[in-house]
Amino acid sequence: MCGIIGYTGSRQVRDILIDGLLKLEYRGYDSAGIAIHNGSMRVIKSPGKVSKLVDLLPRSLDSTTGIAHTRWATHGEPSEINAHPHTSGSGRLAMVHNGIIENAPEIEAYLKEKGYSFISETDTEVLLNLIDYEYGLCGGDILKAMLRSFKKIDGSYALAILEKDRPGRITLCRKDSPLVMGMDDTGYFVASDIYAVSDYTGRFVFPDNDDIIIADNNLGVKAYDGNGKKKELKISHYNINKKSPDHSGYNHYMQKEIFEQPQIISELANSVLSINGQTKHGRSLAEILPGIRRITILGCGTSWHSGLIGKYLIEKHVRIPVNVEYASEFRYRDPVIETGDLVISISQSGETADTIAANKLALEAGAITLGILNVKNSTLDRDTHFQIYLEAGDEIGVASTKAYTAQIVQLSRLTSLLAGMKGNGSAISNISQSLRDISQSMQSVLANAEKISELASKYGFSNNFLFLGRGLNFPTALEGALKLKEISYIHAEGYPGAEMKHGPIALIDFNFPTLVVLTDQESRAKMMSNIKEIKARNGRVIAIINEDDESAEQLVDDVIKVPSVPDIVSPLISVVPLQLFAYYVALLRGCNVDQPRNLAKSVTVE
Ligand code: AGP
Repeated sequence: MCGIIGYTGSRQVRDILIDGLLKLEYRGYDSAGIAIHNGSMRVIKSPGKVSKLVDLLPRSLDSTTGIAHTRWATHGEPSEINAHPHTSGSGRLAMVHNGIIENAPEIEAYLKEKGYSFISETDTEVLLNLIDYEYGLCGGDILKAMLRSFKKIDGSYALAILEKDRPGRITLCRKDSPLVMGMDDTGYFVASDIYAVSDYTGRFVFPDNDDIIIADNNLGVKAYDGNGKKKELKISHYNINKKSPDHSGYNHYMQKEIFEQPQIISELANSVLSINGQTKHGRSLAEILPGIRRITILGCGTSWHSGLIGKYLIEKHVRIPVNVEYASEFRYRDPVIETGDLVISISQSGETADTIAANKLALEAGAITLGILNVKNSTLDRDTHFQIYLEAGDEIGVASTKAYTAQIVQLSRLTSLLAGMKGNGSAISNISQSLRDISQSMQSVLANAEKISELASKYGFSNNFLFLGRGLNFPTALEGALKLKEISYIHAEGYPGAEMKHGPIALIDFNFPTLVVLTDQESRAKMMSNIKEIKARNGRVIAIINEDDESAEQLVDDVIKVPSVPDIVSPLISVVPLQLFAYYVALLRGCNVDQPRNLAKSVTVE
């Protein structure tokens, strides 16, 4: 994962680097560092968040060239030594890297034979020293050194390098990891995403895989392909005016994002579904959809959960077969995708490495790809034929909340569109009306937050939880369990109600509470039987029930009541108490709600 930022030009680099690191912290926050060049190279690094690094930096660095990095550890613990930038053994090069070098052990052994030694546990130091070795052989020609090194390595990388003997120069390149170069009249920027530098410029170059770009404060910029052949810089223009988000009025971003959901849903439900993009032959999605025979949905984590809801909705109301696939599995299992298949890639960030790679595989197989995305101008935004945006605003909390419900809304609206094409008019009016009404019901769940906080205090010191749901609310159970795991570090499992009998019921006892989603009518009777099975084994049950469901209330230990809504939108209502439950349990246990340990907002390595 990790975030990269760099600049060379006439501006002072300190604030550009710090500002960029803070914007990129969503990619990892276990350590951070910078390297500057102002006659000599200097590296300052620290374990912990960017703010810790900032405390170490002098007020002025007096430098106009530098690179910086915020890390999510893949090789070696988060420590100062393992933090980037790394410096090569000879001291000639400093480098920041995002990605994974898969044959690092072999390269390390090769370099040890050449006399290199290593101080960190990282694959980055290995790659850097390989470049350093080739640099020595090539008489300090960074282009040749990189071309020769990349022939020897397997893996993914986005990287930026400073050279001791070339002040004012940054060399960057990428393979299967995102990197963008920005440019303005003062100089050149490099970043893992466009938003890290979009306050400074609207001119960007998105390097292709294997491209190497040398940006020199004095000599200008030159680009080369993976064979070292000079190529034209393709400049794209984006005028991005993005306000930095804050959580004023709330204690945490996650809390704010949970409470924003009714407004986001209301705005989506009362607007026309907008679909961006076209195929390379200029066809719109509306032209293509009637011919679609098969759909595959790709995603990871929470986005995979919403994809499952999409499957249930589309298959029920449109009668087109839908596969939902973990992007990480899909990309490596030789899946059957045919020309004309519709592949829907769901991602809040648009930067998840596995989803990007799986989407690419689908494109290569001839599929039409549709991104359901929150972050515009992200890699998946550029790599899909069509896009439906979530319009949920920045989601900063690592645990996804408002993006999840916005994904469900957009998938419901897509279902409605497809249903219309199949002549299923009743599904369309049912979905549209239910979505318009849901925001009010969601408000009343949020108004009940106090009660959910009390339940969090009652149960929040349990070490294990089971979450059960069926049908459309099976993904709700998965999502509830994921939220609890992520931010409160409690072991939790989400299961379809009936599957409990096939194993997990062995876990049930008084200390293993179960959260049951009982809000949709279609599966209520069956779920009631599952609850009885738990109660018969001395298990405690907290149930999310409709407000008039007295018989369920009598059966379970505690209830969270939600307004009764049509089944078709029930996952939107039922997930909110689970988000709040996880939030309050995390507070109770003193966990970092917005930046939980070991996680990053965007998983940019596989
Ligand atoms: C959600 O709470 C998680 N942080 C995580 O599972 C996330 O949904 C997953 O990494 C996919 O991210 P994306 O939607 O940005 O692709």
